[in-house]
Amino acid sequence: MIEFPHISKGRSKPFLDITNLMIKKYIRDLRNYNDPVFQNVEKFAKEINYPIIDYVTGHLISVLVNLGRHKNIFEMGSGFGYSALWFAKGMSGNGKITLTDIYCDYLTMAKSNLSKQYPLLTINTFCGDTIQTLEQSEENYDCIFIDIGDKSLYPKAGKIALEKTSVNGMIIADNVLWRGKVVESEPDKQTKSINIFNEQMMAVDNFDTIILPVGDGLLVSIKKY
Ligand SMILES: C[S@@+](CC[C@H](N)C(=O)[O-])C[C@H]1O[C@@H](n2cnc3c(N)ncnc32)[C@H](O)[C@@H]1O
Repeated sequence: MIEFPHISKGRSKPFLDITNLMIKKYIRDLRNYNDPVFQNVEKFAKEINYPIIDYVTGHLISVLVNLGRHKNIFEMGSGFGYSALWFAKGMSGNGKITLTDIYCDYLTMAKSNLSKQYPLLTINTFCGDTIQTLEQSEENYDCIFIDIGDKSLYPKAGKIALEKTSVNGMIIADNVLWRGKVVESEPDKQTKSINIFNEQMMAVDNFDTIILPVGDGLLVSIKKY
């Protein structure tokens, strides 16, 4: 039987929405984000109270992956594959994606969702700590996506991602504005870690890094050399 550990956990009360909700609705209505495959996963995530990326964040990821012609993606925190669907869309279903999560059942669902929609995609799954998985990987990646539930792991994840990204490749990280908590004067542990991560990423010379106020804040960092 599949277990959904997020059902009972809930999510802490949002402090602030980075994007005005009316603006978000305007964009959604205008763009008509109504692909049933994406909608089904969004609906399921809502039902079990599971945090997936914002759909505009997903669309942006897909555009960036397409623009960079990225073909080898590593996801840190894949859940049941919503963000991976956007990556696969950006690769037009052609390429390789490595999915990681501590919950094996989520990964089984992710692989099933993805392979149905994108049969030509090569999908690897690793159940366990994503930091260890990336550390032990012998490959470099065109794109590494950081979306780990435990935000205190972001600084460590960032350090390893910097090493494992190919030149001209990119690191993308979600939740880097953390519902606005990053500007609080007395940040909690998770927020402090995000602050450290953001500062760390901005300070690296061979990466060009920007934080976009999309979704819950998206960091995009391109490896220049
Ligand atoms: C925000 S969710 C990922 C959502 C997914 N990227 C999406 O948008 O569809 C975070 C995930 O990180 C996973 N996680 C937490 N700690 C982890 C770790 N150390 N290694 C791998 N996954 C982890 C959680 O189980 C959860 O599924």
